[in-house]
Amino acid sequence: MQFRTRAIHVGQQRDPQTGAVVPPLHLASTFVQPAAGEWGRYDYSRSGNPTREALETTVASLEGGTHALAFSSGMAAVHAATMLLQSGDHIVAGADIYGGTYRLLHRICRRAGIEVTLAPGNDLQRLEDAITPATRLLWVESPGNPLLSITDLAACVEIARRHGILLGVDNTFATPVLTRPLELGADIVMHSATKYLGGHSDLLGGVLAVRDEKLRDELYFIQNATGAVMGPLECFLCSRGLKTLELRVREQCRSAQKLAEILNNDRRVRRVLYPGLPQHPGHEIAAQQMQGGFGAMLSFEVEGDFEAARRVVNSARLFQLAVSLGAVESLIEQPASMSHASYDPQDRAAHGITDSLIRLSVGLEAVEDLANDLDQALSNAL
Ligand SMILES: Cc1ncc(COP(=O)(O)O)c(C=O)c1O
Repeated sequence: MQFRTRAIHVGQQRDPQTGAVVPPLHLASTFVQPAAGEWGRYDYSRSGNPTREALETTVASLEGGTHALAFSSGMAAVHAATMLLQSGDHIVAGADIYGGTYRLLHRICRRAGIEVTLAPGNDLQRLEDAITPATRLLWVESPGNPLLSITDLAACVEIARRHGILLGVDNTFATPVLTRPLELGADIVMHSATKYLGGHSDLLGGVLAVRDEKLRDELYFIQNATGAVMGPLECFLCSRGLKTLELRVREQCRSAQKLAEILNNDRRVRRVLYPGLPQHPGHEIAAQQMQGGFGAMLSFEVEGDFEAARRVVNSARLFQLAVSLGAVESLIEQPASMSHASYDPQDRAAHGITDSLIRLSVGLEAVEDLANDLDQALSNAL
């Protein structure tokens, strides 16, 4: 079955009891056992819940994996992946990663005795040079957040295999519509399901997808032991969102491409970071790695300083001033003061996350309205 058919049908069978075409939402926290010491299909919702399992089945299929696990947030999913490691181990992570992941790696993993080195995901030599004998996990995002840098995932698979380490890919920005890292050979795919998978800014969730039974079992053990599972209502909403994932993402990509081209020709804009523009340094790799679009996230630097960028984001009307991304509503934000405020200022500067950078999440509104809004915001602010 094609991707969009699987998004509607895999894991989402009609209810055999009632014939309802949408599987029911199971809110129960506990399930009756056949007898003391005997276990049925489900016993307690942290360990397994039919609504969560339905979502996990769909996501595993869409990512080309064998299993998926749904967590209470994207950060809980990243955290679970890092719990595969232990004190003395080392993680190499792409420098252009979500600020919350940066904070988790530096402030939580380090507390647990796990060391972290950042290296630019788009510089494979530096990424590989950062690997030490203690490295157990290579963690990358592509496109990166917020610079939209492109990491060559097939090359990362080669690096990870050469060093016998796990490769984890945060696929939140690309979505399985555009990129399926497990099919390229990655070990773990992670999503903030809060973003495109849910797609409507009405749930918090995270997902890990894998293609290896043993890895699934270890991650399941961590999930059940630590308890950060996605709630059934969120799972239900996410499953509903997934049914339109491909349509949403394809249309949002088209709008993002148009807006990137418009901003690229605007003299008030210093530079546009969008992998769909031919001058983007990762354009060639993105064209191979991302199927049928370059994503719906784009960043640009305005001519001006921190205050100028702040005025632009404050002047937008249709683009709403908010962190998060990937939903039907378009959002605008200033990474230096919002999504990436948790980076050390030196790391921010070193990795090119400048004060005048603005990040857009392009939604499903008419692209002409979005272009007009950016035009008025730039005029008002600069
Ligand atoms: C790329 C990326 N990864 C991970 C996360 C964290 O996900 P959550 O906010 O669902 O915990 C986010 C959130 O913005 C994100 O953008």
